[in-house]
Amino acid sequence: MKGMDDDIHATASEGTAASLIDDFGRVATDLRISVTDRCNFRCRYCMPPEGLPWMPREALLTFEEIERLTGILVDLGVRSIKVTGGEPLVRRDVHHLVRKLRDVDHKLDISMTTNGFLLAKEAASLAGAGLDRVTVSCDSLLKHRFADMTLRDALDEVMHGLRVASDEGLTPIKINTVVIRNKNEDEVVQFAELARSTGYDIRFIEYMPLDAQDEWSADGVVPGAEIIERIARAYPLVADTDDEPEPVTPFRFADGAPGRVGVIPSVTQPFCASCNRLRLTADGQLRACLFSLEETDLRGPLRAGANDADLAALAQTCVAAKWSGHRIGEDDFVKPARSMSMIGG
Ligand code: 5AD
Ligand code: SF4
Repeated sequence: MKGMDDDIHATASEGTAASLIDDFGRVATDLRISVTDRCNFRCRYCMPPEGLPWMPREALLTFEEIERLTGILVDLGVRSIKVTGGEPLVRRDVHHLVRKLRDVDHKLDISMTTNGFLLAKEAASLAGAGLDRVTVSCDSLLKHRFADMTLRDALDEVMHGLRVASDEGLTPIKINTVVIRNKNEDEVVQFAELARSTGYDIRFIEYMPLDAQDEWSADGVVPGAEIIERIARAYPLVADTDDEPEPVTPFRFADGAPGRVGVIPSVTQPFCASCNRLRLTADGQLRACLFSLEETDLRGPLRAGANDADLAALAQTCVAAKWSGHRIGEDDFVKPARSMSMIGG
């Protein structure tokens, strides 16, 4: 019989006492862990061709440190984890970390966002270590344009990586496509066709002011609504509400073809009001928002011998102070000091 004790327990784990809740009532359950700021691509909307001043090795959290912090955050209600970078697969033996995260809690949803270049090589060990699925960034299906956008002629490797990941069961596979006006906006229907032929779930991301070079301009943003309209003209769509609620509802194809499409309209329709995300940078700083101007240092206290309760309290304070949302496009918008690759997507 489900007695009172169960109810009290449920309240304690879901309620304010032991959770990551902010002043607007949002609960952080999705943790993005960046494992490196380095990358083997140079996407123009992210970093300059020469790269960035990388974090020194000793600044990076070790896998053991990440495991410990993750355990504390899972006790505070985190249910899904995304391993990101930079490019996470350039960090050596990252599958060892995946194994440690899996051992923290077997029920966690653990995924990775990667550019896919090393995926063919790593997919089997990642799947073996307990990774559930991957999200692969891919902004063009045209070889030359792909090379132009990433400064690496690597479309073939990425496509191969996707196939191997699919064979290894790292599914459902998602693709992140940053859409930029007059750059790759003409390919959105081709991406939808890729979804239809493979079953992949394509997420079109609005171009955000998170590039290290400060070249972003609102003119480059293609509104998500426009992307969906374009696809729907070629292939009628129906909203897919079957799954877990997501920040933005994805679409299925009305004719029953496999795959899905969706948009992440962070600029034109921010989903901040329902944001459940929390980010841990490779150097151990906790960020309540991608656009936060403040971060909470966990590495310092961790290395100075803080106990779990101290670290949990720091995390709760960080989340509590989360602001209502970013102000991209407003006069008072301030770009965070770190760019995307230093935060983790
Ligand atoms: N705007 C939008 N998306 C970006 N990403 C990187 N930089 C930007 C930007 N300036 C994407 C990457 C990756 C995800 C984590 O974030 O392509 O798919
Ligand atoms: Fe969440 Fe911040 Fe992004 Fe809004 S801007 S969706 S609050 S991470």
